[in-house]
Amino acid sequence: MYGTENNRDDSERTAFRRAEKKYKLYYDYNASSKNKKKKQPKPVDLAEVLDFRSILECYHQNAVLPSGVIVLHDKFTSPVFALQNRPGFYFIPGALSIEKQCSLIRESLTDFPQPPNRTNHNALYGPIQDLFVAAKEGKLLVEDNSPITSSETYADIDHRDDKEWKFTTEKDMSLRKCRTVSASVLLRKLRWSTLGLQFDWSKRNYDVSLPHNKIPEALCELSKQLAKPALPGGVEFRPDAAIVNYFGLGDTLGGHLDDMEADWSKPIVSLSLGCKAIFLLGGKSREDTPLAMFLRSGDAVLMAGDARECFHGVPRIFTDKENAEIGHLETRLTHEDDICFLKYIQTSRININIRQVF
Ligand code: OGA
Ligand code: MN
Repeated sequence: MYGTENNRDDSERTAFRRAEKKYKLYYDYNASSKNKKKKQPKPVDLAEVLDFRSILECYHQNAVLPSGVIVLHDKFTSPVFALQNRPGFYFIPGALSIEKQCSLIRESLTDFPQPPNRTNHNALYGPIQDLFVAAKEGKLLVEDNSPITSSETYADIDHRDDKEWKFTTEKDMSLRKCRTVSASVLLRKLRWSTLGLQFDWSKRNYDVSLPHNKIPEALCELSKQLAKPALPGGVEFRPDAAIVNYFGLGDTLGGHLDDMEADWSKPIVSLSLGCKAIFLLGGKSREDTPLAMFLRSGDAVLMAGDARECFHGVPRIFTDKENAEIGHLETRLTHEDDICFLKYIQTSRININIRQVF
């Protein structure tokens, strides 16, 4: 009698949104014995989530694949899977060795967010050096020598071009009255950093005038190697830029297209590190029902050809012991110097998304 479509709230307007909502983290609030409300993750039905690791195991054991899944390059370091109805999409389970995963996790937290590479914190604090070390040492970021003038508000200060924030230890702070934020809070709130050509998120384009370093050689080589299955023979992948995404519990990456690169004929190479996630691969319209799949630490995904034009996103990461599936990292990151990386990654996921822009 009444159209359900009109009654749906905005979060259910498209097939992609409905899938996001299905997998997103929601909490149930149960009254506990002491009458305090206890929050617990709502159970989620994972029955329809494609699991390329078990597909790989099955393939190794008896050379059988589920219908719709194709294996492409059997001689590649690990098998490359593709999907019959999603041309241009490639999944390489366990593409990265454990050692490689560990080194990329370390780099993603130390070198990658270093200026001139930009992060989400640039807008508020300007360039920040050595955030990870500062967090480890319990430092505070302090707004330096910038008294508010009588005509300014704090909001104005946020938009000052010359603002300068510096790390200090808490003791140094005792006599000063400055705005501060702890490095560990900033590390938790680190959402992205950009390597190579810098992406300007406010304008949603690459700003070639921004100072930048080349993508580190090892990452460049790795992505060239991984891109091969998605390129015709002899064509080279030239990584110009990478976006490093950092996810904590409850963080999501909404459905989107990566359409700011001039050359769409080249694949996007996407590497997963840390906690397991659910990835949604939609179609060219948000109305197409997306396919859900698990992304684990060490998996690589290529989006090329038609798949380059498909909506995609990450509605969920799993940080609980049972579902994060980072046991192999826990046994490897045991050295004293690695404990801080392990602590971070036990509740986080990192995605390195490498692109050829021109
Ligand atoms: C992106 C992206 C996917 C992921 O950064 O554009 O789609 O797996 N990332 O985090
Ligand atoms: Mn993307």
